[in-house]
Amino acid sequence: MLNDDIRDYAKRSVLCWLATMSDDGPSVSPKEIFACYGEDRLIIANIASPNSVKNIHADARVCVSFVDVFSQKGWQLYGDAVLMRAGEGGFDDRQAILQGMAGDAFRVATLFDVTVAKANEILAPSYRFKKDVKEADMRQSAMRTYGVKPHAIF
Ligand SMILES: Cc1cc2nc3c(=O)[nH]c(=O)nc-3n(C[C@H](O)[C@H](O)[C@H](O)COP(=O)(O)O)c2cc1C
Repeated sequence: MLNDDIRDYAKRSVLCWLATMSDDGPSVSPKEIFACYGEDRLIIANIASPNSVKNIHADARVCVSFVDVFSQKGWQLYGDAVLMRAGEGGFDDRQAILQGMAGDAFRVATLFDVTVAKANEILAPSYRFKKDVKEADMRQSAMRTYGVKPHAIF
């Protein structure tokens, strides 16, 4: 389910956006501490996401999207999420990965485990509508937009 491209973009994306459902309507919020896990899972640290916890408890359906803002590509992942806690099977492995990403800044006490059922690629419109667009051109253009200069590594 999670192909190499999805795994690559999950690593390259600074944030993912977790969308949840509720009777009052949809909600979406950013999460920095996330990773692909196993064949079909995305794991996300729950550090300060009470509304997502409440929504997922009532309706497991979620959509998670992430993009590399420089290459201007990414993925939308759809599936069902559960909140996992210490003591549950599989928690310790997942927690160790997310805690490693968070470092000492936060304690990852609970996490969202998303079983991914469907994945759609996200592409900036220029890839579809401009002729012969190359990823390198898109990167250059995004760097100009964001005022970023590449750092030479010797
Ligand atoms: C850059 C950034 C990264 C964040 N990363 C996380 C995260 O990894 N986990 C988390 O629980 N909250 C994270 N947050 C905080 C939540 O997005 C924020 O508390 C939000 O209001 C939670 O809303 P929710 O309860 O609807 O999910 C992050 C916020 C920002 C701005």
